Amino acid sequence: MPSREGPPPAKLSAPHATSQRLLDPSGRADYNGAMSETQPASRETIFSGIQPSGELHLGNYLGAIRNWVALQSSYRCFFCIVDYHAITQPFEPAELGRRVREMASDLIACGIDAEKCTLFVQSAVREHTELAWALSSVASHGELGRMTQFKEKAAKNPDNINAGIFTYPVLQAADILLYRATKVPVGEDQRQHLELAREIVRKWNARFGETFREPEALYSSTPKILGLDGQAKMSKSLGNTISLREDDAAVWNKLRTAATDPARVRRTDAGDPDKCNVFTLHKFFTGAERQADVRQGCTTAGIGCIDCKKILLEGIKADLERIRTRRAELLSKPEAIDEILVEGARQARDVAAETMAVVRDRLGIERIPGRAP
Ligand code: AMP
Ligand code: TRP
Repeated sequence: MPSREGPPPAKLSAPHATSQRLLDPSGRADYNGAMSETQPASRETIFSGIQPSGELHLGNYLGAIRNWVALQSSYRCFFCIVDYHAITQPFEPAELGRRVREMASDLIACGIDAEKCTLFVQSAVREHTELAWALSSVASHGELGRMTQFKEKAAKNPDNINAGIFTYPVLQAADILLYRATKVPVGEDQRQHLELAREIVRKWNARFGETFREPEALYSSTPKILGLDGQAKMSKSLGNTISLREDDAAVWNKLRTAATDPARVRRTDAGDPDKCNVFTLHKFFTGAERQADVRQGCTTAGIGCIDCKKILLEGIKADLERIRTRRAELLSKPEAIDEILVEGARQARDVAAETMAVVRDRLGIERIPGRAP
């Protein structure tokens, strides 16, 4: 359950005290973080984002999206397709709109429900980039350079080390803080970015007065799903994924050769499910009783890895079939996706505009003549 603690109520004091008090979008806290005891903790605000990479796979699905689906009923949730993050990598402008809509339909097919949460596209709310710029004035250049993801992207593509991949985590912090979100459901790979967001909050508050609260990461039971190689995290760029769009034959082809406990070399060797990535997937897709049978079969060499994978396939197939059916329904009325995104952006903009008004005030630019409306 969500914790109710947070920083002690902060004072609206120096240096630019304002009479404007921002309301928490949940309506239960004033902007200084003073939680009302009478309101349920479940109304805390959640924000998370996903790039329109064109592919939901078992990694981001199990590591994050299933968590989003579970959380949307109890929290005020903002889920965002982060297209401005995506443009920091090579991409085709003519395809961006399609990728965004595909990601939206995949998320909805997985169970994201626009009646329960706000689903929207980052670029539709201009305040994301505006706040990112303001935050970049307190973000530390040194810290940004230490981000593992930045170093990986830079090493992979030495000819395109653009400033966007460097300041990527600042935009991510802006995403979260615009909605005054306190919980951020992500996979393990985002840990450093979340820490950086917390540091940005501390520096901002120290420089401009208490404005934001430090957001906390929320991890799933398995915050890092390994790829089929059993080595690195499952990731599109590593080519070790099972995509939610794959048909059953393609899923089986990949699963059949997926790495298992490396110590189980022969069929007659006993395996250790706790060292086997395939068993990790059983935890999501196979019921408790069958899971116990698989564990027993593996540790006694009663079943082989192929038997174990066939059982896993049944569970994956059932889940993917449900998602596929829902996606096909959505495809038959594409305008419904656009409507959801338009309405989501409207809701998001209202909250974002409130936050930016306070941020501008803190910066002293709220009353500058000729400012944008
Ligand atoms: P991405 O698809 O990289 O934009 O990531 C979307 C969300 O899924 C983020 O919260 C990631 O941390 C999470 N995620 C991506 N890949 C994995 C993985 N292999 N295991 C766990 N979580 C993941
Ligand atoms: N960087 C995240 C990823 O690649 C996506 C993201 C952007 C995000 N903004 C965010 C996640 C804000 C959580 C909160 O997966």
